[in-house]
Amino acid sequence: MADNPYFCAVSAIIIAIDGYSSCGKSTLAKALAAQLNYGYVDSGAMYRAVTLYFLENKVNFSKSKAVQVALTNIRIHFELNKTSNRNETWLNGRMVEDLIRSKAVSDYVSPVATLVDVRREMVDLQRLAGKNRGIVMDGRDIGTHVFPDAELKIFMTADPEVRALRRFRELLSKGESWNMEAVRENLRERDRIDSTRAENPLRQATDARVLDNSHLSESEQLDLAYRWAQEAILSKKASN
Ligand code: CDP
Repeated sequence: MADNPYFCAVSAIIIAIDGYSSCGKSTLAKALAAQLNYGYVDSGAMYRAVTLYFLENKVNFSKSKAVQVALTNIRIHFELNKTSNRNETWLNGRMVEDLIRSKAVSDYVSPVATLVDVRREMVDLQRLAGKNRGIVMDGRDIGTHVFPDAELKIFMTADPEVRALRRFRELLSKGESWNMEAVRENLRERDRIDSTRAENPLRQATDARVLDNSHLSESEQLDLAYRWAQEAILSKKASN
């Protein structure tokens, strides 16, 4: 961030990108962060890392005491792999970027993400990551709960069948053996749990800009979001 001559802390903003499963939020968030020279946080990866820890350590997540104890043993951080230029998730000193995308984790992450203790802990970490602004964060409750004062909120959506096909192709390319119906079912079920949970459910913030990318290419969606970001940065500069 600091080596970018255009990065100005005074006008640095928070960009919150929320939306349904597999809408391409992370793809857009990463590209937008790179273009603005901002930090990027994949909040979903944090819930996935917690889920991986619970599964590997057989934490009974219906017991709040067990969850609270487990949370004290979890350390999550992100590192940019300079060789692959990939932002990777680390759990307790181990790189888990691929493991957290496995079917087992995808099946359990939304139930885990309903747990109040888990959410409070993750939200604290997310707020810490955004305390100096200059960040793009994607998730489900970033614009509504984590950063209700984000200068730009984007709510992403896409046709469910388009989303399922994109995720199916992504999993295939990684050698994961899912069939299309299992992918559809996973997305449906996660969207249902995420939208109906008691604690900070997935909702479109009233001041969010909606981006339906069913028929947009990656570069088209980036152009649109980058334009919105420039507007938000200029308007923040003007109000300073
Ligand atoms: O990539 P995809 O959209 O499929 O999901 P993700 O961003 O990796 O998030 C995985 C799961 O974490 C979601 O289905 C939610 O259950 C949960 N999550 C959440 O509850 N709150 C967030 N801010 C981000 C993710």
